[in-house]
Amino acid sequence: MKKVIIVDYGSQYTQLLARRIREIGIYSEVIQYDESIPNNAGAIILSGGPKSVNDPDAFPLDRDIFNTNVPILGICYGMQLLAKELGGKIEKTEISEYGKTEIQTIKRDIIFDGIKDNFTVWMSHGDSVVKLPLGSQILSKTKNNINACVKFSEKIYGIQFHPEVKHSEFGFEILENFLFKIAKLDKNWSLTNFIEEKIKEIKSELKSEKAIIALSGGVDSSVAAVLVHKAIGENLKAVFVNHGLLRLNEELEVKKIFNELLGINLTVVDAKKHFLNKLKGIVDPEEKRKIIGEEFIRVFEKESKNNYKYLIQGTIYSDVIESAASGKSTAKIKSHHNVGGLPEEINFKIIEPIKYLFKDEVRKVGELLGIPHHILYRHPFPGPGLAIRIVGEITEEKLNILKKADHIFIETLKEKNWYDKVWQAFTVLTPVKTVGVIGDERSYDYVLAIRSVDSVEGMTANWSKIPYYILEEISTRITNNVKGVGRIVYDITSKPPATIEWE
Ligand code: XMP
Repeated sequence: MKKVIIVDYGSQYTQLLARRIREIGIYSEVIQYDESIPNNAGAIILSGGPKSVNDPDAFPLDRDIFNTNVPILGICYGMQLLAKELGGKIEKTEISEYGKTEIQTIKRDIIFDGIKDNFTVWMSHGDSVVKLPLGSQILSKTKNNINACVKFSEKIYGIQFHPEVKHSEFGFEILENFLFKIAKLDKNWSLTNFIEEKIKEIKSELKSEKAIIALSGGVDSSVAAVLVHKAIGENLKAVFVNHGLLRLNEELEVKKIFNELLGINLTVVDAKKHFLNKLKGIVDPEEKRKIIGEEFIRVFEKESKNNYKYLIQGTIYSDVIESAASGKSTAKIKSHHNVGGLPEEINFKIIEPIKYLFKDEVRKVGELLGIPHHILYRHPFPGPGLAIRIVGEITEEKLNILKKADHIFIETLKEKNWYDKVWQAFTVLTPVKTVGVIGDERSYDYVLAIRSVDSVEGMTANWSKIPYYILEEISTRITNNVKGVGRIVYDITSKPPATIEWE
Protein backbone atom coordinates (compact mmCIF):
# COMPACT_ATOMS: atom_id res chain seq x y z
CA MET A 1 0.00 0.00 0.00
CA LYS A 2 1.41 3.40 -1.00
CA LYS A 3 1.57 5.90 1.84
CA VAL A 4 2.11 9.60 2.30
CA ILE A 5 5.33 10.45 4.08
CA ILE A 6 5.38 13.67 6.05
CA VAL A 7 8.90 14.85 6.73
CA ASP A 8 8.80 16.73 10.02
CA TYR A 9 10.79 19.95 10.31
CA GLY A 10 9.26 20.83 13.67
CA SER A 11 5.93 22.43 12.77
CA GLN A 12 3.27 22.53 15.45
CA TYR A 13 0.84 21.33 12.75
CA THR A 14 2.67 18.13 11.70
CA GLN A 15 0.36 15.79 13.62
CA LEU A 16 -2.68 17.65 12.35
CA LEU A 17 -1.44 17.22 8.79
CA ALA A 18 -1.05 13.46 9.26
CA ARG A 19 -4.57 13.22 10.68
CA ARG A 20 -6.08 15.29 7.86
CA ILE A 21 -4.53 13.01 5.23
CA ARG A 22 -5.89 9.93 6.95
CA GLU A 23 -9.29 11.64 7.11
CA ILE A 24 -9.02 12.07 3.34
CA GLY A 25 -8.62 8.28 3.18
CA ILE A 26 -4.88 7.77 2.59
CA TYR A 27 -2.49 6.29 5.12
CA SER A 28 0.18 8.77 6.25
CA GLU A 29 3.21 8.54 8.47
CA VAL A 30 5.53 11.13 9.96
CA ILE A 31 9.31 10.75 9.76
CA GLN A 32 12.01 13.06 11.09
CA TYR A 33 13.96 15.17 8.58
CA ASP A 34 17.08 12.99 8.99
CA GLU A 35 15.33 9.65 8.37
CA SER A 36 15.25 8.09 4.92
CA ILE A 37 12.16 7.98 2.75
CA PRO A 38 10.59 4.49 2.74
CA ASN A 39 10.32 2.64 -0.58
CA ASN A 40 6.53 2.61 -0.56
CA ALA A 41 6.12 6.40 -0.37
CA GLY A 42 3.46 7.54 -2.83
CA ALA A 43 3.81 11.24 -1.99
CA ILE A 44 6.11 13.29 0.21
CA ILE A 45 5.09 16.36 2.18
CA LEU A 46 7.73 18.57 3.75
CA SER A 47 6.29 20.24 6.85
CA GLY A 48 6.66 23.76 8.14
CA GLY A 49 9.06 24.52 10.95
CA PRO A 50 10.24 27.21 13.34
CA LYS A 51 13.65 27.81 11.75
CA SER A 52 14.71 29.92 8.79
CA VAL A 53 16.24 27.95 5.90
CA ASN A 54 19.08 30.52 6.03
CA ASP A 55 19.96 29.70 9.68
CA PRO A 56 23.39 28.07 10.00
CA ASP A 57 21.72 25.22 11.93
CA ALA A 58 18.66 24.94 9.65
CA PHE A 59 17.31 21.39 9.28
CA PRO A 60 18.50 20.26 5.85
CA LEU A 61 16.81 18.52 2.93
CA ASP A 62 18.23 15.22 1.78
CA ARG A 63 18.74 15.85 -1.94
CA ASP A 64 18.21 12.14 -2.67
CA ILE A 65 14.53 12.98 -2.35
CA PHE A 66 14.68 14.35 -5.93
CA ASN A 67 15.86 10.96 -7.24
CA THR A 68 12.82 9.14 -5.87
CA ASN A 69 10.54 10.58 -8.54
CA VAL A 70 7.82 10.70 -5.89
CA PRO A 71 5.62 13.87 -6.00
CA ILE A 72 6.60 16.41 -3.34
CA LEU A 73 4.61 19.17 -1.66
CA GLY A 74 6.53 21.63 0.52
CA ILE A 75 4.53 23.59 3.09
CA CYS A 76 5.92 26.89 4.48
CA TYR A 77 9.48 25.98 5.62
CA GLY A 78 9.18 22.92 3.34
CA MET A 79 8.44 25.15 0.34
CA GLN A 80 11.33 27.45 1.17
CA LEU A 81 13.67 24.49 1.54
CA LEU A 82 12.65 23.20 -1.90
CA ALA A 83 13.08 26.66 -3.42
CA LYS A 84 16.55 27.03 -1.90
CA GLU A 85 17.73 23.55 -2.88
CA LEU A 86 16.53 24.02 -6.44
CA GLY A 87 18.43 27.30 -6.83
CA GLY A 88 16.02 30.00 -5.60
CA LYS A 89 16.48 32.64 -2.91
CA ILE A 90 14.75 33.09 0.46
CA GLU A 91 14.87 36.30 2.47
CA LYS A 92 13.35 37.88 5.51
CA THR A 93 11.06 40.43 3.84
CA GLU A 94 9.60 43.63 5.28
CA ILE A 95 6.25 41.90 5.43
CA SER A 96 5.56 38.94 7.71
CA GLU A 97 2.22 37.27 7.31
CA TYR A 98 0.52 35.68 10.31
CA GLY A 99 -3.07 34.50 10.42
CA LYS A 100 -5.75 34.85 7.79
CA THR A 101 -4.40 36.16 4.47
CA GLU A 102 -6.08 36.57 1.10
CA ILE A 103 -4.46 34.96 -1.92
CA GLN A 104 -5.01 35.45 -5.61
CA THR A 105 -4.51 32.93 -8.40
CA ILE A 106 -2.00 34.02 -11.05
CA LYS A 107 -2.11 30.87 -13.14
CA ARG A 108 -4.73 28.12 -13.03
CA ASP A 109 -3.32 24.68 -12.28
CA ILE A 110 -4.50 21.20 -11.37
CA ILE A 111 -3.62 21.86 -7.69
CA PHE A 112 -6.41 24.48 -7.60
CA ASP A 113 -8.96 22.32 -9.46
CA GLY A 114 -12.49 23.21 -8.45
CA ILE A 115 -11.32 26.14 -6.29
CA LYS A 116 -12.17 29.80 -6.90
CA ASP A 117 -9.48 32.36 -7.87
CA ASN A 118 -9.40 34.38 -4.66
CA PHE A 119 -9.60 32.85 -1.20
CA THR A 120 -8.35 33.14 2.37
CA VAL A 121 -5.62 30.96 3.86
CA TRP A 122 -3.72 30.61 7.15
CA MET A 123 -0.16 32.00 7.04
CA SER A 124 2.65 31.91 9.57
CA HIS A 125 5.92 33.10 8.07
CA GLY A 126 8.62 35.75 8.33
CA ASP A 127 10.81 34.55 5.42
CA SER A 128 9.58 34.44 1.83
CA VAL A 129 10.72 33.00 -1.49
CA VAL A 130 12.00 36.10 -3.29
CA LYS A 131 13.67 34.46 -6.29
CA LEU A 132 12.31 31.35 -7.94
CA PRO A 133 14.46 28.48 -9.18
CA LEU A 134 14.80 28.30 -12.98
CA GLY A 135 11.86 26.66 -14.70
CA SER A 136 9.36 27.18 -11.88
CA GLN A 137 6.07 29.03 -12.09
CA ILE A 138 4.21 31.23 -9.66
CA LEU A 139 0.65 29.95 -9.31
CA SER A 140 -0.63 32.37 -6.66
CA LYS A 141 0.40 35.39 -4.61
CA THR A 142 -0.88 37.06 -1.49
CA LYS A 143 -2.28 40.57 -1.65
CA ASN A 144 1.12 41.68 -0.22
CA ASN A 145 2.73 40.31 -3.40
CA ILE A 146 4.34 37.36 -1.57
CA ASN A 147 4.59 34.05 -3.46
CA ALA A 148 1.92 31.80 -2.03
CA CYS A 149 2.05 28.78 -4.33
CA VAL A 150 4.86 27.72 -6.63
CA LYS A 151 5.08 24.87 -9.13
CA PHE A 152 8.73 23.85 -9.24
CA SER A 153 8.15 21.04 -11.76
CA GLU A 154 5.34 18.75 -12.89
CA LYS A 155 5.44 16.82 -9.60
CA ILE A 156 6.99 19.29 -7.14
CA TYR A 157 4.89 22.04 -5.57
CA GLY A 158 5.33 24.47 -2.71
CA ILE A 159 2.72 26.39 -0.74
CA GLN A 160 3.52 29.13 1.75
CA PHE A 161 0.27 28.67 3.70
CA HIS A 162 -1.01 25.81 5.88
CA PRO A 163 -3.74 23.79 4.14
CA GLU A 164 -4.10 21.47 7.17
CA VAL A 165 -5.45 24.30 9.37
CA LYS A 166 -9.24 24.72 9.39
CA HIS A 167 -8.88 28.50 8.88
CA SER A 168 -7.48 27.87 5.39
CA GLU A 169 -10.35 27.94 2.90
CA PHE A 170 -10.08 25.00 0.48
CA GLY A 171 -7.15 23.53 2.46
CA PHE A 172 -8.61 20.02 2.24
CA GLU A 173 -9.33 20.42 -1.48
CA ILE A 174 -5.74 21.51 -2.18
CA LEU A 175 -4.39 18.48 -0.30
CA GLU A 176 -6.84 16.24 -2.15
CA ASN A 177 -5.83 17.67 -5.52
CA PHE A 178 -2.18 17.06 -4.70
CA LEU A 179 -2.72 13.53 -3.43
CA PHE A 180 -5.29 12.28 -5.93
CA LYS A 181 -4.60 14.28 -9.09
CA ILE A 182 -0.85 14.94 -8.91
CA ALA A 183 0.42 11.97 -6.86
CA LYS A 184 -2.43 9.80 -8.26
CA LEU A 185 -2.92 7.95 -4.98
CA ASP A 186 -6.00 5.87 -4.19
CA LYS A 187 -8.37 6.26 -1.26
CA ASN A 188 -7.56 3.01 0.54
CA TRP A 189 -7.14 3.74 4.25
CA SER A 190 -10.01 2.67 6.43
CA LEU A 191 -10.11 1.46 10.01
CA THR A 192 -12.06 -1.66 9.04
CA ASN A 193 -9.17 -2.63 6.76
CA PHE A 194 -6.75 -1.76 9.53
CA ILE A 195 -8.46 -4.18 11.94
CA GLU A 196 -8.49 -7.03 9.43
CA GLU A 197 -4.85 -6.49 8.44
CA LYS A 198 -3.69 -6.14 12.03
CA ILE A 199 -5.40 -9.34 13.15
CA LYS A 200 -3.76 -11.23 10.24
CA GLU A 201 -0.37 -9.71 11.08
CA ILE A 202 -0.58 -10.60 14.79
CA LYS A 203 -1.75 -14.15 13.98
CA SER A 204 1.16 -14.75 11.67
CA GLU A 205 3.70 -13.28 14.07
CA LEU A 206 2.53 -14.93 17.31
CA LYS A 207 1.31 -18.23 15.85
CA SER A 208 0.70 -20.35 18.95
CA GLU A 209 2.83 -18.25 21.33
CA LYS A 210 1.29 -16.72 24.45
CA ALA A 211 1.02 -12.99 25.20
CA ILE A 212 0.21 -10.97 28.28
CA ILE A 213 -1.24 -7.47 28.68
CA ALA A 214 -1.71 -5.24 31.70
CA LEU A 215 -5.17 -3.70 31.48
CA SER A 216 -5.74 -0.38 33.12
CA GLY A 217 -9.41 0.16 32.29
CA GLY A 218 -8.40 3.01 29.98
CA VAL A 219 -8.98 3.37 26.24
CA ASP A 220 -5.62 2.36 24.78
CA SER A 221 -4.95 -0.86 26.67
CA SER A 222 -8.61 -1.93 26.25
CA VAL A 223 -8.50 -1.50 22.48
CA ALA A 224 -5.09 -3.20 22.22
CA ALA A 225 -6.36 -6.13 24.31
CA VAL A 226 -9.54 -6.68 22.29
CA LEU A 227 -7.63 -6.49 19.01
CA VAL A 228 -5.02 -9.04 20.09
CA HIS A 229 -7.70 -11.26 21.61
CA LYS A 230 -9.43 -11.38 18.22
CA ALA A 231 -6.16 -12.65 16.76
CA ILE A 232 -4.95 -15.16 19.35
CA GLY A 233 -7.97 -15.81 21.60
CA GLU A 234 -7.19 -17.76 24.76
CA ASN A 235 -3.46 -17.32 24.27
CA LEU A 236 -3.84 -13.77 25.53
CA LYS A 237 -3.74 -13.30 29.25
CA ALA A 238 -5.20 -9.98 30.40
CA VAL A 239 -4.17 -8.92 33.89
CA PHE A 240 -5.82 -6.19 35.89
CA VAL A 241 -3.89 -5.21 38.97
CA ASN A 242 -6.07 -3.61 41.61
CA HIS A 243 -3.62 -1.55 43.64
CA GLY A 244 -6.43 -0.12 45.70
CA LEU A 245 -5.90 3.38 44.36
CA LEU A 246 -8.62 3.14 41.76
CA ARG A 247 -11.96 4.85 41.36
CA LEU A 248 -15.04 3.50 43.16
CA ASN A 249 -16.24 0.18 41.69
CA GLU A 250 -13.48 0.20 39.08
CA GLU A 251 -12.64 -3.48 39.49
CA LEU A 252 -16.25 -4.57 39.09
CA GLU A 253 -16.68 -2.34 36.09
CA VAL A 254 -13.60 -3.65 34.26
CA LYS A 255 -14.44 -7.27 35.13
CA LYS A 256 -17.94 -6.85 33.80
CA ILE A 257 -16.80 -5.40 30.53
CA PHE A 258 -13.99 -7.82 29.78
CA ASN A 259 -15.50 -11.06 31.02
CA GLU A 260 -19.12 -10.58 30.21
CA LEU A 261 -19.24 -8.24 27.27
CA LEU A 262 -16.06 -9.02 25.41
CA GLY A 263 -15.48 -12.61 26.47
CA ILE A 264 -11.89 -12.02 27.50
CA ASN A 265 -10.64 -14.05 30.40
CA LEU A 266 -9.47 -11.46 32.89
CA THR A 267 -7.15 -12.20 35.76
CA VAL A 268 -7.72 -9.76 38.59
CA VAL A 269 -4.91 -9.43 41.08
CA ASP A 270 -6.00 -8.00 44.39
CA ALA A 271 -2.92 -6.21 45.68
CA LYS A 272 -4.69 -3.52 47.73
CA LYS A 273 -3.18 -4.39 51.08
CA HIS A 274 0.29 -4.84 49.64
CA PHE A 275 0.30 -1.40 48.00
CA LEU A 276 -1.16 0.37 51.04
CA ASN A 277 1.54 -1.17 53.23
CA LYS A 278 4.30 -0.06 50.88
CA LEU A 279 2.86 3.46 50.80
CA LYS A 280 2.50 3.82 54.57
CA GLY A 281 4.06 7.07 55.78
CA ILE A 282 5.07 8.22 52.26
CA VAL A 283 4.34 11.87 51.57
CA ASP A 284 6.55 12.80 48.61
CA PRO A 285 4.66 12.44 45.28
CA GLU A 286 7.65 11.21 43.31
CA GLU A 287 8.35 8.62 45.97
CA LYS A 288 4.69 7.49 45.70
CA ARG A 289 5.00 7.15 41.91
CA LYS A 290 8.25 5.19 42.21
CA ILE A 291 6.87 2.75 44.74
CA ILE A 292 3.68 2.15 42.76
CA GLY A 293 5.58 1.68 39.48
CA GLU A 294 8.04 -0.75 40.99
CA GLU A 295 5.47 -2.78 42.89
CA PHE A 296 3.27 -2.92 39.82
CA ILE A 297 6.09 -4.58 37.90
CA ARG A 298 6.78 -7.08 40.68
CA VAL A 299 3.11 -8.11 40.72
CA PHE A 300 3.01 -8.29 36.95
CA GLU A 301 6.19 -10.38 36.77
CA LYS A 302 4.77 -12.78 39.29
CA GLU A 303 1.62 -13.17 37.19
CA SER A 304 3.53 -13.85 33.99
CA LYS A 305 5.68 -16.57 35.60
CA ASN A 306 7.98 -16.49 32.60
CA ASN A 307 5.33 -18.25 30.54
CA TYR A 308 4.76 -15.46 28.11
CA LYS A 309 6.98 -14.55 25.21
CA TYR A 310 5.08 -11.41 24.19
CA LEU A 311 3.99 -8.30 26.06
CA ILE A 312 1.20 -6.22 24.49
CA GLN A 313 1.46 -2.47 24.94
CA GLY A 314 -1.18 0.20 24.19
CA THR A 315 1.27 2.73 22.74
CA ILE A 316 -0.42 5.21 20.39
CA TYR A 317 0.92 7.39 17.58
CA SER A 318 1.02 10.78 19.30
CA ASP A 319 3.37 9.28 21.93
CA VAL A 320 5.59 7.90 19.17
CA ILE A 321 5.75 11.21 17.31
CA GLU A 322 6.30 13.26 20.44
CA SER A 323 9.06 11.07 21.78
CA ALA A 324 10.74 10.83 18.37
CA ALA A 325 10.57 14.60 17.98
CA SER A 326 12.20 15.09 21.34
CA GLY A 327 14.96 12.70 20.32
CA LYS A 328 14.20 10.06 22.95
CA SER A 329 13.81 6.34 22.48
CA THR A 330 10.12 5.61 21.98
CA ALA A 331 10.05 2.10 23.41
CA LYS A 332 11.49 3.12 26.77
CA ILE A 333 9.24 6.12 27.24
CA LYS A 334 6.10 4.18 26.53
CA SER A 335 7.01 1.21 28.71
CA HIS A 336 7.37 3.63 31.58
CA HIS A 337 4.26 5.52 30.73
CA ASN A 338 1.94 2.57 30.17
CA VAL A 339 2.50 0.38 33.15
CA GLY A 340 4.08 2.91 35.44
CA GLY A 341 7.74 1.93 35.04
CA LEU A 342 8.82 -1.24 33.27
CA PRO A 343 12.41 -2.15 34.05
CA GLU A 344 14.87 -1.32 31.28
CA GLU A 345 15.72 -4.98 30.78
CA ILE A 346 12.63 -7.01 30.07
CA ASN A 347 12.34 -10.55 28.87
CA PHE A 348 9.38 -9.97 26.62
CA LYS A 349 9.05 -9.21 22.95
CA ILE A 350 6.91 -6.08 22.77
CA ILE A 351 3.91 -5.85 20.43
CA GLU A 352 2.26 -2.46 19.98
CA PRO A 353 -0.80 -3.09 17.79
CA ILE A 354 -2.17 0.48 17.79
CA LYS A 355 1.17 2.28 17.61
CA TYR A 356 0.29 4.04 14.34
CA LEU A 357 -3.19 5.21 15.33
CA PHE A 358 -4.22 8.60 16.66
CA LYS A 359 -6.47 8.75 19.72
CA ASP A 360 -9.61 9.43 17.70
CA GLU A 361 -8.76 6.47 15.44
CA VAL A 362 -8.16 4.26 18.49
CA ARG A 363 -11.65 5.17 19.69
CA LYS A 364 -13.19 4.41 16.29
CA VAL A 365 -11.39 1.03 16.19
CA GLY A 366 -12.74 0.41 19.70
CA GLU A 367 -16.27 1.14 18.49
CA LEU A 368 -15.85 -1.22 15.52
CA LEU A 369 -14.62 -3.89 17.95
CA GLY A 370 -17.71 -3.46 20.13
CA ILE A 371 -16.09 -1.84 23.17
CA PRO A 372 -18.74 0.14 25.10
CA HIS A 373 -18.84 3.91 24.62
CA HIS A 374 -18.26 4.71 28.28
CA ILE A 375 -14.90 2.90 28.25
CA LEU A 376 -13.78 4.53 25.01
CA TYR A 377 -14.68 8.04 26.08
CA ARG A 378 -13.50 7.92 29.69
CA HIS A 379 -11.41 10.71 31.10
CA PRO A 380 -7.70 9.95 31.43
CA PHE A 381 -6.69 8.46 34.75
CA PRO A 382 -3.08 8.48 36.02
CA GLY A 383 -1.21 5.20 36.57
CA PRO A 384 -0.53 5.97 40.26
CA GLY A 385 -4.27 6.62 40.60
CA LEU A 386 -5.70 8.22 43.72
CA ALA A 387 -2.29 8.11 45.42
CA ILE A 388 -1.42 11.40 43.73
CA ARG A 389 -4.84 12.87 44.50
CA ILE A 390 -4.41 12.54 48.24
CA VAL A 391 -2.00 15.28 49.17
CA GLY A 392 0.29 13.89 51.85
CA GLU A 393 0.05 10.48 53.48
CA ILE A 394 -2.37 7.89 52.09
CA THR A 395 -4.69 6.12 54.53
CA GLU A 396 -7.65 3.85 54.03
CA GLU A 397 -9.94 6.47 55.58
CA LYS A 398 -8.77 9.15 53.12
CA LEU A 399 -9.08 6.75 50.17
CA ASN A 400 -12.69 6.02 51.10
CA ILE A 401 -13.52 9.71 51.35
CA LEU A 402 -11.90 10.47 48.01
CA LYS A 403 -13.53 7.55 46.17
CA LYS A 404 -17.01 8.57 47.33
CA ALA A 405 -16.52 12.26 46.61
CA ASP A 406 -15.04 11.56 43.18
CA HIS A 407 -17.93 9.28 42.29
CA ILE A 408 -20.50 11.93 43.20
CA PHE A 409 -18.63 14.59 41.22
CA ILE A 410 -18.36 12.43 38.09
CA GLU A 411 -21.92 11.13 38.27
CA THR A 412 -23.28 14.67 38.64
CA LEU A 413 -21.26 15.82 35.63
CA LYS A 414 -22.69 12.92 33.61
CA GLU A 415 -26.21 13.68 34.76
CA LYS A 416 -25.85 17.33 33.73
CA ASN A 417 -24.29 16.39 30.37
CA TRP A 418 -20.96 17.96 31.29
CA TYR A 419 -18.78 14.81 31.47
CA ASP A 420 -18.16 14.66 27.71
CA LYS A 421 -17.63 18.42 27.50
CA VAL A 422 -14.52 18.43 29.70
CA TRP A 423 -11.19 16.71 29.16
CA GLN A 424 -10.64 15.44 32.68
CA ALA A 425 -12.41 15.91 36.00
CA PHE A 426 -11.61 14.61 39.48
CA THR A 427 -11.41 15.48 43.14
CA VAL A 428 -8.36 16.01 45.33
CA LEU A 429 -8.24 15.48 49.08
CA THR A 430 -6.08 18.07 50.79
CA PRO A 431 -4.46 17.52 54.19
CA VAL A 432 -6.07 20.76 55.43
CA LYS A 433 -8.93 20.66 57.96
CA THR A 434 -11.24 23.60 58.56
CA VAL A 435 -14.04 24.47 60.95
CA GLY A 436 -17.69 24.11 60.02
CA VAL A 437 -21.10 23.86 61.59
CA ILE A 438 -23.36 20.85 61.17
CA GLY A 439 -26.72 21.12 62.98
CA ASP A 440 -25.69 22.97 66.09
CA GLU A 441 -22.37 21.18 66.34
CA ARG A 442 -18.90 22.39 65.46
CA SER A 443 -17.17 20.22 62.81
CA TYR A 444 -13.52 20.03 61.86
CA ASP A 445 -13.12 18.25 58.50
CA TYR A 446 -11.04 18.03 55.34
CA VAL A 447 -10.97 20.51 52.47
CA LEU A 448 -11.74 18.76 49.19
CA ALA A 449 -10.80 20.37 45.87
CA ILE A 450 -12.65 19.71 42.66
CA ARG A 451 -10.71 20.06 39.42
CA SER A 452 -12.02 19.98 35.87
CA VAL A 453 -9.98 20.98 32.85
CA ASP A 454 -10.34 21.53 29.13
CA SER A 455 -7.40 20.35 27.10
CA VAL A 456 -6.37 18.68 23.85
CA GLU A 457 -3.58 16.31 24.85
CA GLY A 458 -2.96 17.27 28.46
CA MET A 459 0.14 19.35 27.66
CA THR A 460 -1.67 22.59 28.41
CA ALA A 461 -5.05 22.99 30.04
CA ASN A 462 -7.57 25.53 31.24
CA TRP A 463 -10.11 25.13 34.01
CA SER A 464 -13.61 24.28 32.84
CA LYS A 465 -16.29 26.92 33.10
CA ILE A 466 -18.89 24.64 34.69
CA PRO A 467 -22.03 26.69 35.50
CA TYR A 468 -22.34 27.85 39.14
CA TYR A 469 -25.61 26.02 39.71
CA ILE A 470 -23.94 22.70 38.84
CA LEU A 471 -20.95 23.47 41.07
CA GLU A 472 -23.40 24.32 43.83
CA GLU A 473 -25.19 21.01 43.42
CA ILE A 474 -21.92 19.07 43.43
CA SER A 475 -20.85 20.85 46.61
CA THR A 476 -24.14 20.14 48.35
CA ARG A 477 -24.22 16.49 47.30
CA ILE A 478 -20.66 15.82 48.45
CA THR A 479 -20.90 17.61 51.80
CA ASN A 480 -24.25 15.92 52.52
CA ASN A 481 -23.08 12.43 51.61
CA VAL A 482 -19.40 12.14 52.35
CA LYS A 483 -18.47 12.13 55.99
CA GLY A 484 -15.11 13.80 56.58
CA VAL A 485 -15.42 16.53 53.93
CA GLY A 486 -16.16 19.92 55.48
CA ARG A 487 -15.41 22.36 52.72
CA ILE A 488 -15.16 22.30 48.93
CA VAL A 489 -13.05 24.55 46.70
CA TYR A 490 -12.91 24.73 42.90
CA ASP A 491 -9.43 24.81 41.36
CA ILE A 492 -9.30 27.72 38.88
CA THR A 493 -5.66 27.40 37.83
CA SER A 494 -4.59 26.73 34.25
CA LYS A 495 -1.64 24.59 33.15
CA PRO A 496 0.87 26.19 33.12
CA PRO A 497 1.61 27.38 35.76
CA ALA A 498 -0.11 24.52 37.63
CA THR A 499 -0.17 20.91 36.40
CA ILE A 500 -3.46 19.08 35.95
CA GLU A 501 -2.91 16.75 38.89
CA TRP A 502 -2.02 18.27 42.26
CA GLU A 503 0.97 16.00 42.81
P1 XMP B 1 -0.13 16.74 34.74
O1 XMP B 1 -0.51 16.60 36.16
O2 XMP B 1 1.30 16.39 34.48
O3 XMP B 1 -1.00 15.66 33.97
O4 XMP B 1 -0.49 18.07 34.17
C1 XMP B 1 -1.12 15.53 32.58
C2 XMP B 1 -1.89 14.25 32.30
O5 XMP B 1 -1.10 13.12 32.71
C3 XMP B 1 -1.75 12.39 33.73
N1 XMP B 1 -0.72 11.99 34.71
C4 XMP B 1 -0.18 10.76 34.79
N2 XMP B 1 -0.42 9.64 34.08
N3 XMP B 1 1.20 8.47 35.35
C5 XMP B 1 0.26 8.49 34.37
O6 XMP B 1 0.03 7.45 33.74
C6 XMP B 1 1.49 9.55 36.12
O7 XMP B 1 2.33 9.48 37.01
C7 XMP B 1 0.77 10.75 35.82
N4 XMP B 1 0.80 12.02 36.32
C8 XMP B 1 -0.13 12.74 35.65
C9 XMP B 1 -2.80 13.33 34.30
O8 XMP B 1 -3.88 12.63 34.88
C10 XMP B 1 -3.17 14.14 33.09
O9 XMP B 1 -4.11 13.44 32.29
